[in-house]
Amino acid sequence: MDSKRIVSIIGTGSYVPERVLTNQDLEKIVDTSDEWIFSRTGMRERHIAAPEQAASDLGTEAAKKALEDAGVDAEEIDLLIVATLSPDMFFPSTACFVQEKIGAKNAYCYDLGAACSGFLYALETARAQIACGAVETALVIGSEKMSTFLDWEDRTTCILFGDGAGAAVLRSGGEGRGVMESVMGSDGSLAHLLSTPGGGSRNPMTHEMLDQGMQYLQMQGREVFKHAVKRMTDAVLSALEKNGLSTDEIKCFIPHQANIRIIDAISKKLGVGDRMYVNVEKYANTSSAALAIALDEAVKDGTIQKGDLVVLTVFGGGFTWGANVLEWGK
Ligand code: UT7
Repeated sequence: MDSKRIVSIIGTGSYVPERVLTNQDLEKIVDTSDEWIFSRTGMRERHIAAPEQAASDLGTEAAKKALEDAGVDAEEIDLLIVATLSPDMFFPSTACFVQEKIGAKNAYCYDLGAACSGFLYALETARAQIACGAVETALVIGSEKMSTFLDWEDRTTCILFGDGAGAAVLRSGGEGRGVMESVMGSDGSLAHLLSTPGGGSRNPMTHEMLDQGMQYLQMQGREVFKHAVKRMTDAVLSALEKNGLSTDEIKCFIPHQANIRIIDAISKKLGVGDRMYVNVEKYANTSSAALAIALDEAVKDGTIQKGDLVVLTVFGGGFTWGANVLEWGK
């Protein structure tokens, strides 16, 4: 078996729930303003899932679109990974729920936990399994119902996130270089800066834990900001070096959509001007879904064309981060 097979993304899809929550809406919920949110984050609005929608429902919608885009039947999928920090439940995996909903009965399925970096981690995991010949076709999904895990009384976090999902179908073969090897990293010593500390085996689900609000996402924003800029910039440069490429050769950079000021800082450090893809104003930070949604939009709006070189980069809780390069072959 060839250990270096080309792996291509052959279809993408994304989904955001119908309900839109604007900055003006947030002004009625917490002590904030459209001016503060937009100037500090670049966000205007975000989408919020309906009460009956869970992460697997959002992921299923994105997956169906990606499969249609790829022209692939669900039964052709060998591997199905859902990256999420807001799973339907602890177990079974959200991936198994998606499997059932789309009819991917020949796939083996699991969730991947790398917070906001999850989609790129999942992409790399699928790429490696296809490249070594273990599987032929993979469906990778980033899906989040962040709104469940936000403290809607905490203005420092609740304004920042939104719900949504994105998906990609990967397969061996294709023209060009396809999805190239990623550069990934983690630093568990900084886990405390961005986490949802309650509800797991460390701080079990007790009335006391709930009273303390430990079931909600907590973040030390300024610290996270600094690390996000440095780690994504360094990861992009390493990924380019690993693949013998320079920033000038890249048509489009798609970073994690957490804050326009983070994206601008990376853009400045890399000297890539307006080649950074940005949609944070429409969706806010959808965690592991953000990169997947942005990739799908960049393909569908024509920003990415056949033969273009594209860089993806992420940063999230853990800390976790990564970057890769792909040659768009569709
Ligand atoms: O997806 C994982 C990666 N996540 C990120 O990368 C997020 C990284 N962090 C950030 O994007 C930014 O740090 C934030 C957007 C979270 C915060 O922006 P900041 O410029 O770092 O603001 P800050 O936390 O330093 O707060 C400045 C002021 C504070 O008031 P004082 O202490 O200066 O009086 C806050 O209390 O802004 C206040 N503030 C707000 N004011 C109005 C914080 N949140 C709000 C708010 N509305 N929503």
